[in-house]
Amino acid sequence: MSSFNRRKFFQISTIGGLALSMPIDLKSAPSKEKKILLDPYQSSVGRFSHSYLRKIANKYGSPTYLYDWDLIKTRYLEFRDGFKKHYPKVKVHYAYKANTNLNIISYLTSLGAGAECISIGEMSFALKAGQKGENIIFTSNSKSEQELRFAIKNKVLINIDSLSGLKNLESLVGKLKTTVRVCFRINPDVETTSTHKHISTGHKFTKFGLMYLNEDIYKAAKIAIDNKFMTFEGIHSHIGSQILESKPFEKNAQILSSVSLEIKKRFNYEISFINMGGGLGIPYRDNQARFSPERLASIVCPILKRKFSGFKNLPEIWLEPGRYLVAEAGVLLSKVNSVKMTDIKNFINVDTGFNHLARPIMYEAYHRVRILNGKSKTKKFQVAGNICETGDMLTKDRLLPKPEVGDIIALLDSGAYGFSMASEYNSFYLPAEVAIKGNSDYLIRKREDFNDLLRNQILEKKLI
Ligand code: LLP
Repeated sequence: MSSFNRRKFFQISTIGGLALSMPIDLKSAPSKEKKILLDPYQSSVGRFSHSYLRKIANKYGSPTYLYDWDLIKTRYLEFRDGFKKHYPKVKVHYAYKANTNLNIISYLTSLGAGAECISIGEMSFALKAGQKGENIIFTSNSKSEQELRFAIKNKVLINIDSLSGLKNLESLVGKLKTTVRVCFRINPDVETTSTHKHISTGHKFTKFGLMYLNEDIYKAAKIAIDNKFMTFEGIHSHIGSQILESKPFEKNAQILSSVSLEIKKRFNYEISFINMGGGLGIPYRDNQARFSPERLASIVCPILKRKFSGFKNLPEIWLEPGRYLVAEAGVLLSKVNSVKMTDIKNFINVDTGFNHLARPIMYEAYHRVRILNGKSKTKKFQVAGNICETGDMLTKDRLLPKPEVGDIIALLDSGAYGFSMASEYNSFYLPAEVAIKGNSDYLIRKREDFNDLLRNQILEKKLI
C-alpha cells in the first residue's frame, strides 16, 4: 500500500452542532485547509481518507485494529519534550497496560521510553522489547512471591503499595540475600471529578498506595532505609486515568514534594525521583479541547522547582503515560452486518463488540465513529455489537449516515485499552492488528482463528 501521497485528508466542519469529517485532497487543498491538517488533533481525526481505510479493511479483513505509527512518535515526543521544556531531569515510562503489541512497545523502547508494568507478562514483554530491568517499574497492589522473584532476578524497580507488601519483600530479600531497588506508591487522597469512578485511583477509598493521611508512608520509608538489601529510590502516585483537569495533578505534585521533603527532614535521606504516574486524558470528542503535556508540565514542574529550591540535587520527574501515547493512533475497523430500523431505535449491527472494545460498556466511554464513505442523509443510530448482551452498544444514539450492509465503520481513538482489554468472549476471534508507517502498512498481529480458541483446552476422554 503506497497511496499515502494521494491519500485524502479530512477537515472537521460543524453543521448544526454536529461535527462531520469531510475529505480534502491534499494537493488541491488551499493553504487555510493545510493549516488545519497540520494541527495534531485534526490530523488524528482525519489522518487517513475513507477510501484508504476501506482498502485496509479489504486487505486485512474485519474487525482490524490499525495504528498510525507516525502519530505514536509525535505523541511520545510531545510528551517528553513538553516536560523537558519545564524541567531538567525527566524520564518517561510507557504504561504497558494501554497496549502491549510487541511492535508498539519495541518502537517506544527505541524512542527512549521506559516501561511501567503490572504483571510478569508485562515485565516479560518489556524485556522482550529490549528494556533493561533498570528501566522497568513493577507496580501492583497485589504482588505474588513469584512476581517478586521475577522482578528481583531481572533487576526491576519494585513499587511497594502497602506495609504488608513491604514485609513480603523484606522477608524474600532476607532469604535470597540479594539487593533490590524500591519505591513507594502513595495514596495522596486526591479526588478527580473529570473521569469515570472506575479509573479514579488517588482518593482514600481506593485499594491503591500507602496512605499519606496516616503516616504509613514514613513507616515504610524508615523500614526501607534501614534494610541493607533495599535501595529506596523514590516515591510514586498515579491518581487516575483520562484526567482533563489541572487541580488533581497540581495537588498530587504538592503532596509528593512535601512527602519527599518530610523524608529528608525525618531521616536525612534524599530520594532520587518523584514519579507522578500517568493519567493525562485525550480529547475523545470532536472539538473537545486538548490538555497538552506541556500545559501539565507548566503546572507541576514549578511546584517541584519551588519546593526543592535549596537542594543540591533536584529529584528527577518520572511519568507513566499510557493512553496519551497510543490512544489517538488507533482505529478499530469493523464491517456492517445489518441495519435495523424500528419505530423506537435504529441499529447498525457490526462485526465487533465489547469483546474487542470494552471501553463504552465499562466506562460509558465515548468513541467517535465514522461510516466510511457514508453518503446518505443522517439519522439517529446506535452502533450495536454482535455480543449476546443488551449492553453491547458501541455508541448511544448518534447522528450518522445510514450505511449499506458491507460498509466499513471506523471507531476512533481505540489505540489505548482497546486490544489490550479484548477477550474471546462468545468465541469470537481476536482482531488483526496493522501498523501504518509513512506510506506502508504492516500486519503486526494475525487475526485469530479456531485453533487459537482451542489452544489451551484439554479434551479429557475420561470426562465424556
Ligand atoms: N501508571 C499506573 C500505575 C497505572 O495504573 C496506569 C493506568 C497508568 C500509569 C497509565 O495511565 P494512563 O496514562 O493510560 O491514563 N482501562 C481504562 C484505563 C485504566 C487505567 C489503569 N491504569 C480505560 O480504558 O479508560
